Amino acid sequence: MLSIDLTGRRALVAGVADEAGFGFAIAKALAETGASVCVATWPPALNIFLNLMERGKIDDARRMPDGSLLTFERIYPLDAVFDALDDAPAEIRENKRYRDVGDFSVSGLAARIVADFGERPLDILIHSLANGPEVRKPLIETSRAGYLAAVSASAYSLVSMVQRLGPLMKPGGAVASLTYLAGERVIPGYGGGMSTAKAALESDTRVLAYEAGRAYGIRVNTISAGPLASRAASAIGIIERMVEYCQINSPLPEALAAREVGTAAAFLCSPLASAVTGTTLYVDKGYHAMGMAVGGPQ
Ligand SMILES: NC(=O)c1ccc[n+]([C@@H]2O[C@H](COP(=O)([O-])OP(=O)(O)OC[C@H]3O[C@@H](n4cnc5c(N)ncnc54)[C@H](O)[C@@H]3O)[C@@H](O)[C@H]2O)c1
Repeated sequence: MLSIDLTGRRALVAGVADEAGFGFAIAKALAETGASVCVATWPPALNIFLNLMERGKIDDARRMPDGSLLTFERIYPLDAVFDALDDAPAEIRENKRYRDVGDFSVSGLAARIVADFGERPLDILIHSLANGPEVRKPLIETSRAGYLAAVSASAYSLVSMVQRLGPLMKPGGAVASLTYLAGERVIPGYGGGMSTAKAALESDTRVLAYEAGRAYGIRVNTISAGPLASRAASAIGIIERMVEYCQINSPLPEALAAREVGTAAAFLCSPLASAVTGTTLYVDKGYHAMGMAVGGPQ
């Protein structure tokens, strides 16, 4: 029988801070394939996440098919807007949520992984993080700083991670990120340069697939997911209405479950997808294929 068995492989999922988002669902699906899973968490969310785990608040979500609880091999701090610790301004480094976690930069993460597991310990890298401080502002009202911050946190962070973690990956490994249809179509309400960041992420996926494919023998893909009411998405303000709209207007008229993105990511990062690279895979109940809302002039 064809099945996904990633026993003996190690994944790093960046962008997990609760049980509601795509990162958690991907981490869980990967663990179900037998992979060992490390996660990287944004320092401002790290203590809250550790508390949720310690107090058993997310045990239901952590429950694995065999009854055990999903565990992470490591939980690393990561602020993906900083390539090196020195890039972080003093007020960040001295902030109470950052000062005790050690080197939270992308280079710091790479160094910790090597210290913990050796030179080439990674098979799978998941980038499931984004931030756009002005996401509620239409693009036309977005400041330069807000736009660049969105692109830095949500798109360049992938380049930085592949640059620094790609050399730690074994040939045959796979990188996957999360994008959104707003990178190629107009989605009113998805502002602040976030649409720009997703367009950059999708383009970078193609170029990184070529460059990292040649350099390290790894694949790079992105998943264009349908809307999900995660913590990050609630910052958009209208996420519940976006979920409902897509549910009504998709070829498969049902809400997307984070797990469906998790299992698609497990496939993409498995040898079953060994010829798939540089692609945007839609996991959105088919919404991207529609050109007119259901109930339009028919
Ligand atoms: N929720 C949706 O509707 C939707 C749809 C398509 C794509 N996506 C994408 O999925 C990915 C995951 O988002 P999600 O919706 O599951 O929400 P989420 O809240 O679970 O994940 C976003 C994570 O990014 C982290 N983060 C923010 N800034 C960071 C930084 N500078 N460094 C490190 N981590 C940082 C947050 O702490 C959070 O854990 C994002 O790329 C998002 O754009 C989401």
